[in-house]
Amino acid sequence: MEEESVKFAVPKGVFYNPAMRLCRSISSLAVGAIGEKIEVVDAFSASGIRGIRYARENKNVKKLTSIDVFPPAVPAAKKNIRTNKVKGSAVKGNVSRMAFEYDADFLEIDPFGTPAPYLVDSFRFFNTKKEAYLSVTATDVAVLCGGKTAPCMKNYHSKPLNNEFTHETGLRILIKKIAETAAEFNMGILPLISFSDQHYLKAVVHVKRGADGADASLKQLGHISSCKGCGFRGASQFPQLCPNCGAETDFAGPLWLGELHNASFIRKMAALNTKRTYSDRDKISTMLSLMEGEIGLPPYFYNVHALCKLQQLDSVPKMDAVIAKLVQRGFAARKTHFSPVAIKTNAPHLEMLEAVK
Ligand SMILES: C[S@@+](CC[C@H](N)C(=O)[O-])C[C@H]1O[C@@H](n2cnc3c(N)ncnc32)[C@H](O)[C@@H]1O
Ligand SMILES: [Zn+2]
Repeated sequence: MEEESVKFAVPKGVFYNPAMRLCRSISSLAVGAIGEKIEVVDAFSASGIRGIRYARENKNVKKLTSIDVFPPAVPAAKKNIRTNKVKGSAVKGNVSRMAFEYDADFLEIDPFGTPAPYLVDSFRFFNTKKEAYLSVTATDVAVLCGGKTAPCMKNYHSKPLNNEFTHETGLRILIKKIAETAAEFNMGILPLISFSDQHYLKAVVHVKRGADGADASLKQLGHISSCKGCGFRGASQFPQLCPNCGAETDFAGPLWLGELHNASFIRKMAALNTKRTYSDRDKISTMLSLMEGEIGLPPYFYNVHALCKLQQLDSVPKMDAVIAKLVQRGFAARKTHFSPVAIKTNAPHLEMLEAVK
């Protein structure tokens, strides 16, 4: 097998999904953008491809430890580490036990399905650290995004929302769970980059020890309310009645209402991307620039098609025309990485309804 700079072997039964190449590339850019020297633990390593790419593509990775519980994965990762001349090792074990034996500056959590049961153990890898980086992949998109309240309550203690911006609320529920777990360890979080792609959600966060940071993170939690009648959506500490029609709203939360990304970090990643020869370089560049544009805008978006349908409009205006109209009226409005037919804006709901007419 070959993925970007790495040639590696994947024995039968060991997991490898080539469709996650873009996720690994973006995550590797995040590792590089950290800049300072870090020890990486790839805690659900399978063939080891993720950690090996991080270490080969970034000079700041001092050492890699690949962990997997599945016996055949371990010799495979060991061999792949050796043939790629990466400084590191592969060990067999359950991440929950290994958390007491290894320290990490950067921890990669990429399990099958939900990362929720592993988050407490993830923070144990940071027991000796004042600060660290946590990179989490969630493939339980059907739980985080959609209308199934019971499974989302079980794993994340939050209610999801099944509507046009469900992927953003799902991502924010995932980040809330990370922030809550961090707080239990007296740590605060700063999301560096968080995104939705294909059938997974990804967040890379900077964690720092300290009561003030933990408290500040928890203050960023709240709810998103969504009115089925008029299409209103809004963010507040607790679910609210629709301010337009007074109706009860459907809601998601508690979830993270803070920023999904850090601007200077995204810019560092974008600069690194231009120097790499990734197969997905152009796509990554577009995604990063869309994500940077999302910073400072409300924690939800508008699907232009859905707004037109709601108002029974016969034709759907061009995205650029809607954005131009909003900007002309003095609002900020940007496209979003979540959907090619959606806009993030600070315009009030009624202005947004007008803008698509
Ligand atoms: C989705 S795969 C990881 C894919 C890999 N990160 C990549 O990018 O190719 C999940 C891996 O986690 C391993 N795993 C599952 N539960 C684990 C646990 N509790 N501790 C350590 N490894 C575990 C599985 O054996 C599997 O290899
Ligand atoms: Zn309403």
